Amino acid sequence: MDLKSIFKTAKALVADNKGLLAMDESISSCNKRFELLGIPETIEAHRAYRDLIITTPYLGRFISGLILCDETIRQSKRDGTPFIKVIEDAGIIIGIKVDAGEVDYKGYPGEKIAIGLDGLSERLTEYATMGARFAKWRGEIIIGKDIPSKDCIDANAKSLAKYAALCQEAGLVPIVEPEVIMDGKHPRCRCLEVSKEVLLSVFNQLQLHHVALEGIILKPNMILPGLSCSIQESVEEVSDATVNFLLQSVPKAIPGIAFLSGGQSCLLASERLNAMNVRFKNKLPWALTFSFSRAIQQPVLESWKGNKNNVEKAQAALFHRAKCNYAACRGEYDITLEYS
Ligand code: 13P
Repeated sequence: MDLKSIFKTAKALVADNKGLLAMDESISSCNKRFELLGIPETIEAHRAYRDLIITTPYLGRFISGLILCDETIRQSKRDGTPFIKVIEDAGIIIGIKVDAGEVDYKGYPGEKIAIGLDGLSERLTEYATMGARFAKWRGEIIIGKDIPSKDCIDANAKSLAKYAALCQEAGLVPIVEPEVIMDGKHPRCRCLEVSKEVLLSVFNQLQLHHVALEGIILKPNMILPGLSCSIQESVEEVSDATVNFLLQSVPKAIPGIAFLSGGQSCLLASERLNAMNVRFKNKLPWALTFSFSRAIQQPVLESWKGNKNNVEKAQAALFHRAKCNYAACRGEYDITLEYS
C-alpha cells in the first residue's frame, strides 16, 4: 500500500475548486432515467450517453474526477478508443463505484444495507490495474417513523469502513458516502440529528479499521429538511447548518468533502454549495466541493433525449453545470450565471 500516492490522489480530487461528476448509475437506475425521457434502454444507448459526457470539450477545467460504473469502465468510443484513455487524456481522474447496491436490512423493516464486500479485494485490484485511482461506496440511511435504528447505522458504517480499508490496501482513494436520504416530511433538525449519529459511527468505524483519513474523501448529504417538509429554509440557513454540523463531526485530517445532490434541484444544489464557500471557505480545514449526479446530469439528459443531433446541446448543458458548480466552490456562483 502506497499511502503517499493515495494522499496525493485524494488531494488532487478536491484541488483547485474542481469537483467530481458521478456518472455511475447502475444499469437499472440509468434505464429508469432513460425511460422517463423515452430513450431506448439499451447498452448502446448507455454507451452513447457516457461517450457524450466524457468527450465534452474542456470538462477537465471544472471536473477533477469521474465516477464510472462497471459497465462504463469497460466501454469504448465508436472508433474503438477505450473510455479510460479518453478520460485520462482529458486530465480527469478515474473512479469506480464498487458497492453492489442495497438490500433490505433483515429484521429492520424499512431499512437498507449496502452490499458488495464479497470478492471486493479482487475487483479493486482489477480496477486499479485498469486505471482507476479512486472508488465509491454508498450506504443509504432512511429517515422514517422509528428509523433509522442504531444497528442499521452501525452496520452501514462498518461496511463503509471495511470497503475503505480494502481500497487503501489496493492503492485507491475511497469515497465514503453515507447518504441520509432526503425523502420524507421530517424537519431539518431531524436530518441533522440522524446525520450526526451517522458520521459519529462512520468515523468510529474508520478508525477501528485503521483507515488513513488523509486518504479518503467524505461524500455526505447536506443538512436539509425532508423534500415534503412544509418548512423549507433559506439557502443561508441550510449552508450554516451544514457547515456547523461538518465542523462538529468531521476530523480535520481529511482533505475534502464532496457533497451528493440527493434530489435537490440543480440551482439549489449550486446555490447552497456556493453559500457555504462564500461564508466559510477560508475558515475550514477541508475543501468543500461537489460530487453530484442528478444535479449535474438532469439537464444533460433532457437536452440529449437519446438523439445524436442533440449531442452538442447536451455537452453545452454539462459544461454549463460543471462551470456553475466550480464557481460555487470558489464562492462566485450567482444566479445570473444561469442566464449568461
Ligand atoms: P446524486 O447527486 O444524484 O444524489 O448522486 C450522487 C451519488 O453519487 C449517489 O451515489
